[in-house]
Amino acid sequence: MIEFAEVSKVFHEPAGDGIVAVDRFSLTVEAGETLGLIGTSGCGKTTTMKLVNRLIEPTGGRILLEGRDIRELDVISLRRRIGYVIQTGGLFPHMTVARNIGLLCEVENWTAGDIRVRVRELLDLVNLPPDDFADRYPRDLSGGQRQRVGVARALALDPPFMLMDEPFGALDPISRDKIHEEFAQLKERVRKTTVLVTHDMAEAFKLADRIALMHKGRLVQVGVEDDFRERPATPFVEDFLRSHLHEEASDA
Ligand SMILES: Nc1ncnc2c1ncn2[C@@H]1O[C@H](COP(=O)(O)OP(=O)(O)O)[C@@H](O)[C@H]1O
Ligand SMILES: [Mg+2]
Repeated sequence: MIEFAEVSKVFHEPAGDGIVAVDRFSLTVEAGETLGLIGTSGCGKTTTMKLVNRLIEPTGGRILLEGRDIRELDVISLRRRIGYVIQTGGLFPHMTVARNIGLLCEVENWTAGDIRVRVRELLDLVNLPPDDFADRYPRDLSGGQRQRVGVARALALDPPFMLMDEPFGALDPISRDKIHEEFAQLKERVRKTTVLVTHDMAEAFKLADRIALMHKGRLVQVGVEDDFRERPATPFVEDFLRSHLHEEASDA
């Protein structure tokens, strides 16, 4: 379980008043749940994620992981429990796929044999046949394959929590549909408490158990698809939905 309690982040710049990136954000992500965090660019999604693994410290409020304030936890062990997938994949270009995936196991001093076994298991899990992919370099992968490697790497230490920041955002529609199907299946096999950031409502409806919509740093509505479609909380939610439904229609 991840609990956000009145969490705020103000970025202070040398000149000016500061940017309120996250504004008194309160929300509980239940154990095993995939929460879709959605909103337009600049609304504070990435900042919210980085507050969880302490790449950024809040200016107000607190975040609890399984009931404990994350500030009381050691940062290294905190991050070991949270898999993090970023939009660009973040793979090291000079390392093979296998090395990229096994890196955290290396840091944890696993034996080479154990790492090899784990890497093959993870490649299978994300539907990349190990014999074909283990020794490739990131430049020899498609965007979708690179994202799968990013997901495999985040799962390496079997963390109970996953933060996924627009992992499928840069993919073409066909790769995205395929990877959506795979993610839906993966989710059933490895139950993680997950925050999946997206700017795509259709993706959120498809992959998330519940959806949280942010606007200008604030949480405006939390719910399932029907709540958003039938009971939009504010005119902004209605507009957001309408423009997304319009996109869906024009995609088809
Ligand atoms: N390190 C930073 N310093 C100053 N402002 C930042 C920083 N990171 C993000 N911001 C600002 O905070 C707001 C939220 O950004 P972000 O969390 O990246 O939004 P999103 O991921 O929803 O697109 C934006 O106005 C952005 O410009
Ligand atoms: Mg972002």
